[in-house]
Amino acid sequence: MLVVDVTMKKKSDQISLIKLISLKNKKALITGSGAGIGKAIAHRFAEAGANLVLVDINFQNIAKVKENLGQFNVEVELYKADLSKSEEINSLWEKMKGTEPDILVNNAAIYPTKSFLEVDHPFLERVLNVNLNSVFWMCQNMIKSRLKKGGVIINMGSIEAVLPLKEGLSQYDISKAGVMALSRALASEYGRNDFRVNVLVPGGIWTQGTKNLAKEAMKLNFGVLKSGFEYRMRSPLGRMGNADEVACMALVLACDLSSYVTGALIVVDGGFLSA
Ligand SMILES: NC(=O)c1ccc[n+]([C@@H]2O[C@H](COP(=O)([O-])OP(=O)(O)OC[C@H]3O[C@@H](n4cnc5c(N)ncnc54)[C@H](O)[C@@H]3O)[C@@H](O)[C@H]2O)c1
Repeated sequence: MLVVDVTMKKKSDQISLIKLISLKNKKALITGSGAGIGKAIAHRFAEAGANLVLVDINFQNIAKVKENLGQFNVEVELYKADLSKSEEINSLWEKMKGTEPDILVNNAAIYPTKSFLEVDHPFLERVLNVNLNSVFWMCQNMIKSRLKKGGVIINMGSIEAVLPLKEGLSQYDISKAGVMALSRALASEYGRNDFRVNVLVPGGIWTQGTKNLAKEAMKLNFGVLKSGFEYRMRSPLGRMGNADEVACMALVLACDLSSYVTGALIVVDGGFLSA
């Protein structure tokens, strides 16, 4: 017999909208926050009142991001780390011992293109280390350090893992498929420890990374040109997205507006996958 607990209140019952969306008194760690989507997430989270830990391989860029966050009056810590190296990840969590973040956004990734037949061991290892293994170790550190407190984890997937569009991205596609599978496994395993783990699945978003891809197109790489054109033609909204449109969904997943959302793949692609 199914027993329904009618007395159980939703976590969000009777909480004002402004409180639900607020990240005040929360600390959020965002990887790859020196550029693109990570930088946009840092802005929205700061606006919502979160104290931030910005992590990137490019220290200059996160220092610039910090300067621009001055208006929000939040604390911002900076860490330079190459997340492809597990020892740098461990040292980061060692430095944060006792002040671990409530929210972890695993956003850093690389997407270099290479024909499948030319991929060699060092190339594949580099992409998997940055895009997938780093997420694995970051999640393990987060969950281990907050097993009794819980927290929120947001990982970055890609529509490429579901519907490969660009040529030469097989290594990227498997890294993102891995991130999506890992996130669902952790959501299932650690929900009772009060962890919510979700995946953002962006479509084509204008960032420094995609601008670099566009530069390849200028060199008459027809594969890239073709896929950019096809993306816009198929997408119901008929355009690429911008980083802030992903950041706004990240904010929803980070705050209590999504208190009953875990193990979800949230697609932010202007309708591309559904068309
Ligand atoms: N832009 C898109 O169209 C798109 C589409 C789908 C998914 N995504 C995903 O969104 C995320 C952000 O993409 P983006 O376009 O903003 O990327 P981006 O290249 O503009 O920025 C990535 C950031 O990660 C940092 N980074 C790279 N390697 C690192 C390492 N080893 N250690 C630490 N930091 C490192 C870079 O310095 C940079 O600041 C990625 O996970 C990407 O796969 C992007």
